[in-house]
Amino acid sequence: MPKVTFITADGTSQTIDHSHGSLMEVAVDHDIQGIEGACGGVCSCATCHVKIPVEWRDRVGPPNEAETDTMSFMDDVDETSRLSCQIDLDESLDGLTVYVPGQPD
Ligand code: FES
Repeated sequence: MPKVTFITADGTSQTIDHSHGSLMEVAVDHDIQGIEGACGGVCSCATCHVKIPVEWRDRVGPPNEAETDTMSFMDDVDETSRLSCQIDLDESLDGLTVYVPGQPD
């Protein structure tokens, strides 16, 4: 199972081994600061926003149409943005690092 690393707005890095499901589910299960997953993963809340480093963008892929629609209501969106509930983890994403935008507490 893939290993993923979350870097939160305060610079904290947390690596999770043996992750499965969506990236949002992994983040919520491990209390990653800044990822709430309020809609449960149906792509309607945007509380699971992450930013993908350039070296991972091809493997992770672009946002789908529903993500693009949901993110159109957000301020802090750029070409690196994805909604983590729409990223299913598999071995091809082993070692993935993502950034969680937002203000540190
Ligand atoms: S969890 Fe709601 S949009 Fe991702």
